[in-house]
Amino acid sequence: MSHQSRVVALSSRLEQIAALSETPDGIFRPFASPSAEACVQLVGEWCRDAHLSMRKDAIGNIRIHDPNRSGAKRKFFMGSHVDTVINAGKYDGVLGFLMALDQLEQKRDCPFDLEVVGFSDEEGVRYGTAYLGSSVLVGNFDRDLLSKMDDLGISMSQAISDFGGDPCALDKACFGTENEFEGYLEVHLEQGPVLAASQVPVGVVTAIAGQFRCTLCFQGKEGHAGTVPMDHRKDAGLGAAEFAMSLERYALSRSHEMVATMGKWTVNPNASNVIPSEAKVSVDLRSSNESALSQGIEFIKHTGTEIAEKRGLAFSLRVDQMNPSVPMSDELKMRLATAIASTGQPPIETRSGAGHDAAILSHLGPVAMLFVRCREGISHSPEEYVSSEDIEVAMKVCDHFFEHYE
Ligand code: HGY
Ligand code: MN
Ligand code: MN
Repeated sequence: MSHQSRVVALSSRLEQIAALSETPDGIFRPFASPSAEACVQLVGEWCRDAHLSMRKDAIGNIRIHDPNRSGAKRKFFMGSHVDTVINAGKYDGVLGFLMALDQLEQKRDCPFDLEVVGFSDEEGVRYGTAYLGSSVLVGNFDRDLLSKMDDLGISMSQAISDFGGDPCALDKACFGTENEFEGYLEVHLEQGPVLAASQVPVGVVTAIAGQFRCTLCFQGKEGHAGTVPMDHRKDAGLGAAEFAMSLERYALSRSHEMVATMGKWTVNPNASNVIPSEAKVSVDLRSSNESALSQGIEFIKHTGTEIAEKRGLAFSLRVDQMNPSVPMSDELKMRLATAIASTGQPPIETRSGAGHDAAILSHLGPVAMLFVRCREGISHSPEEYVSSEDIEVAMKVCDHFFEHYE
């Protein structure tokens, strides 16, 4: 098949997966949801047509390999996630998964088995804990998470069982130590402005930023909005709001190396004429600089405590996720740079502020990421867009990467 027809086929598949959502408008395909199951079924049809074998593993990852090219000890993985954020774009995760499936369909005789993975939960929207699929694959899944409840009160363990997985057999989904981990390649839209600004279609990722995610809880006293004087209030909502402004000032003063986001707010009792008794807010702190990240975590802890004391509120912090920054493999970066140069493009490097499953796969060995330019750097939005021309360049880079892999 020509590159052009492969890109057309990939784009058609991308549109078909984009149509699988929990919401009638906008894309939302969370972990272990009916739309996630529909995605597994659809991919299963494509794999049957391509004579590839596909299974859903115990955590719901889509696992695909070529039955006629398996049995080698050396295993190379390629893929990305198939779950999405709320009101997502079409390309985040799915582009990388479909690029991997396209590579497997080339049926090359490589010096290793190529396995394609569609990770079941990278975003962590349903349970607030990202990387469930990849952490099971690498064997560092925290079993305590199984009792976490989603917003509907369904435990992760129940969700896994309902999805046809097996919470008691997650070890069966782990990479088998009897094999040799050769490496992992993830293609992903950049989700940032660097490639567009540099006017290049692809780039080599140098490192994935470290991230700290936690949930803060401020607790005060509910009261009547019309009768409680301002100086008698213990308003949990204002405690969270004051913290948010402090965190913004802190991150702005370190904006060259840090970003901070408070994206999920839950205020109780959440009525316009009741003083909030409780405010639960998420904090997502990122930096490629390890010491800046740990200083930021200290800032969150002592500023939250200070504001709560000043306002007579109770304060607690729950750590949801902590991932250090992860450097990409020098050898695989070099292979990618050579492959990019073979397409006539300059092999520019850039770091990733976004988290990716590659950060978790790095526990097994060498990993690399190829970024693809996206329009105005927009992502986690329906405005997300990657051009067919850029997808074709990325495809040629992957072809070269595997064709020249000894
Ligand atoms: O949040 C992230 O960095 C990624 O999109 N999961
Ligand atoms: Mn994402
Ligand atoms: Mn992603």
